[in-house]
Amino acid sequence: MIILAAGQGKRMRSRLPKVAHEVAGRPLVNWVIDAATTLQPESLVVVVGHGAEEVGAILPPGTRTALQAEQHGTGHATKVALAELGDLDPDDVVVILYGDTPLITSDLVRSLAAFEEGEALRMVTAEVDDPSGYGRVVRDPHGSVIAVVEDRDADEAQKAIREINAGFYSVRAGLLAESLGQISPHNDQGEYYLTDVVGILAAAGHRLTAVRAAPEEVAGINSQDQLAEAQAAKRREINQRLMESGVWMLDPDRVYIDATVTVEPGARIYPDTYLRGDTRVAAGAEVGPDVWAEDSTIGANSRVWYAVLRSSVVGEECQVGPFASLRPGTVMERGSKIGTFVETKNTTLGEGAKAPHLSYLGDATVGSRANIGAGTITCNYDGISKYPTVIGEGAFIGSDTMLVAPVTIGDGAITGAGSVITRDVSPGALAVERSDQVEIPGYAERRRSRKSASDPEG
Ligand code: UD1
Ligand code: CA
Repeated sequence: MIILAAGQGKRMRSRLPKVAHEVAGRPLVNWVIDAATTLQPESLVVVVGHGAEEVGAILPPGTRTALQAEQHGTGHATKVALAELGDLDPDDVVVILYGDTPLITSDLVRSLAAFEEGEALRMVTAEVDDPSGYGRVVRDPHGSVIAVVEDRDADEAQKAIREINAGFYSVRAGLLAESLGQISPHNDQGEYYLTDVVGILAAAGHRLTAVRAAPEEVAGINSQDQLAEAQAAKRREINQRLMESGVWMLDPDRVYIDATVTVEPGARIYPDTYLRGDTRVAAGAEVGPDVWAEDSTIGANSRVWYAVLRSSVVGEECQVGPFASLRPGTVMERGSKIGTFVETKNTTLGEGAKAPHLSYLGDATVGSRANIGAGTITCNYDGISKYPTVIGEGAFIGSDTMLVAPVTIGDGAITGAGSVITRDVSPGALAVERSDQVEIPGYAERRRSRKSASDPEG
């Protein structure tokens, strides 16, 4: 099996090699590899070229590649792949796919591989509303395929053909090598077109078969616009599958879930939720509106809304948000809460611990059932290094406490509101650090009369 992925993708107008662009969190080329490998092919070669290193790095580990150092077209790329595959039996069937078609299904690859005795080439075509940009499938009056003409080489009559070449083929190895030897770059782009093989084999009287596919399975990505369309199609597919399994969504058009994410049946997803990378959402969890979660776990029956979660673990029965930022290394144990305008980083909240409002907790370990008062901040950074804060079980941190790390608050201890805590607090103790309140009787009245005498208008 051969997958062509060496092109630059000029029409994307992007720094990234085309096949490295992602749909539902997975690079275009990896969608094709996925569909191809479900058939367990004897060998698989991915042709890389433009941005070869970058593309090589995103391929599944162990993927065999061939380097097409200069990209002279799909026919040239196929020759490079054949050289990598080495000696093939002329009767062997070679399946060729393009790396920019992320909506390809394994069923479609299977239908290509179901090659019959006497067949020379099998190709996938589709009838589309807008064929512009695609190669057109030209048939003779009996309906037999006789050629593929590229959009830029097509005449007016050919441009009107709505049957397009998907770019998926299976072909006898011997005939492929032979006809690739005959193609020439006499076309608008000056490239060696794999599609010319179709015309060459047809002219030689070989048996060609066209397999019809649904337009949405064959979409090739050449532009940002087509990438967005493929994203939408994949999103619909993923959300449909999840809803069928029993996931509730208020508005599936506004839920963006990567293919790599697990959502258990019984989870509830509100709009504008983005679940990315290695993220898991357990049954009974309620996520959104407005949640961005990447590489994070949301436990059963937890509620997360208006929040950003990165490499964090939210346990069962927890509450997050509204307006919370969980940075990498945040771990919430069962029943804990991170509330409004709270930021955490590399911090563990024990069972039932709560930081309900306006806090920063960094490099902290918060014991179970501890309560973090509004405005509490762990001062974990002295400008050079970061230091830990340890808060004991059941501790009560008064509002607006500054915890200057490294510092440990003992189990059950209390800090007075507004304290700047620089030394460890013993278990069960109260630590207060603030100047005594002073009272000046009658001051307010005196000040007001002074002010009105000097400024009668004011
Ligand atoms: C190609 C087909 C067209 C078909 C369409 C389907 C050719 C000549 N045309 O056009 O008939 O309708 O796909 O989507 O084949 N590549 C290489 N090396 C190269 C050039 C391309 O590896 O030198 C790879 C690209 O990375 C890409 C694939 O081949 O994955 C297709 O190339 P692209 O330039 O996108 O071809 P299209 O113009 O879309
Ligand atoms: Ca293409």
